[in-house]
Amino acid sequence: LSASVTIDPAFVVGPVRPRTFGSFVEHLGRSVYTGLHDPGHPTADADGFRGDVVELTRELGVSTVRYPGGNFVSGYRWEDGIGPVEQRPRRLDLAWHSTEPNLVGVDEFMRWCARTGVEPMMAVNLGTRGVQEALDLLEYCNVPGGTKWSDLRRANGAEDPYRIKMWCLGNELDGPWQIGHKTAYEYGRLAAETARAMRMVDPDLELVVCGSSGSQISTFGEWEHTVLTEAYEHVDHISAHAYYWEEDGDLASFLASAVDMDHFVDSVAATADAVRAAGKHTKRIHVSFDEWNVWYQKRAESRPPSGDDWPVAPVLLEDRYNVADAVVVGNLLISLLRHTDRVHAASLAQLVNVIAPIMTEPGGRSWRQTTFHPFALTARHAAGDVLRLAVDAPVQETAKFGAVPVLDAVATHDAGTGAVVLLAVNRSLTDDVALDVDLRGFPGLRVAEALTLSNPDHTWSATADDATSVLPRPNTTAKVSDDRAHVDLPPVSWSMIRLE
Ligand code: AHR
Repeated sequence: LSASVTIDPAFVVGPVRPRTFGSFVEHLGRSVYTGLHDPGHPTADADGFRGDVVELTRELGVSTVRYPGGNFVSGYRWEDGIGPVEQRPRRLDLAWHSTEPNLVGVDEFMRWCARTGVEPMMAVNLGTRGVQEALDLLEYCNVPGGTKWSDLRRANGAEDPYRIKMWCLGNELDGPWQIGHKTAYEYGRLAAETARAMRMVDPDLELVVCGSSGSQISTFGEWEHTVLTEAYEHVDHISAHAYYWEEDGDLASFLASAVDMDHFVDSVAATADAVRAAGKHTKRIHVSFDEWNVWYQKRAESRPPSGDDWPVAPVLLEDRYNVADAVVVGNLLISLLRHTDRVHAASLAQLVNVIAPIMTEPGGRSWRQTTFHPFALTARHAAGDVLRLAVDAPVQETAKFGAVPVLDAVATHDAGTGAVVLLAVNRSLTDDVALDVDLRGFPGLRVAEALTLSNPDHTWSATADDATSVLPRPNTTAKVSDDRAHVDLPPVSWSMIRLE
């Protein structure tokens, strides 16, 4: 197969936003306990945080981390997680049928963020709680001192306020599985009043209202419309959540998952703009795609315990990702970048152990899953402006999305360094794509680096014993002559080509 792409510096979509490369840590399974936090681990710091996980998080290039949930936050009492650790209560976590020991709370998390160099994105509980508890947490975190909650933070060791900027107004309240599930109108009113009160404390917060928990849910579209009709003036972003997986061996549809993500963002943006017009608003609402990933929801590891079994940090949602999963993750990042004009934040869900690029053994080794690599390379190299491409590619039939192009790609251009980065996937199950790139808008560029992630067996996944035999490898077919680049992309592959 052959395909062509034209890259032109004039076709700017918007800037590459660091917050596109966010992630997510929920009190769920082994994400926090034995993931981030493992006091017996040889690399643990005074808080019990694993140094190896801090290093891997940095290498992954994560910018923001959403916390503490997820479904967990809809039943969470944040006050349980502050003060002397030995006095903190153990609680039932209804979302994941587990016991929450509260060894990590907001203060420990903020120290982990500072150590890792990531921006926190805090979620408040609008499932079982409301305006007052959100205000209390905001006061604890962001008010310098002289009040009950701010002085308690100081007494707990944090003299300076955290001044957390991004706040999520609850989580997935459209989902019938959510503790405190609400109708769109009930939630829209609560979110609006919570946001209004939070802005009385700090007008400069960036507030994320809950959108839909997936594009397949029956209320998709209507939910966004109603919620934004109630809350438009009080919020900055609306969330989007999407998980994809290979269903019943349908690899072609799975590889085209970004088609759904494109549709998701376009639909939410259109709905927000419709509410904007009808409400005579002037500002625009942006999308915070704050949960996205591959997640095999039907696998046994995704089923929480039941009955009287309420374990601490059970093995839950520990998906082992293969090469095809990593290609899809790379493609979803291409979709997010392509929408950088509307998607102002995103979070790969999640970071450690739970549907995660980083895996750990309790007290032992940590390793990178296949999905780590496209994320880390995109976060490291995408810079400057995102460019819209003219793509000409053959199509392949898929059961879910009809005919889709075999090639999907986006490019970034850093006007400062002159570097152009092309990110491309070949979704063909069988054929190479010979890609021709028209670079006439960038005379004189040369290939600085070309890496491709693929494997004859796309079901290969990393383990603690072998996390390196399949890695992005130099693609030696990448060449430039006469301001045209050429590269061969193997089937089921993701590539990053850096031109300087
Ligand atoms: O990320 C796992 C779960 O997926 C989150 O807790 C929830 O928000 C979503 O349904």
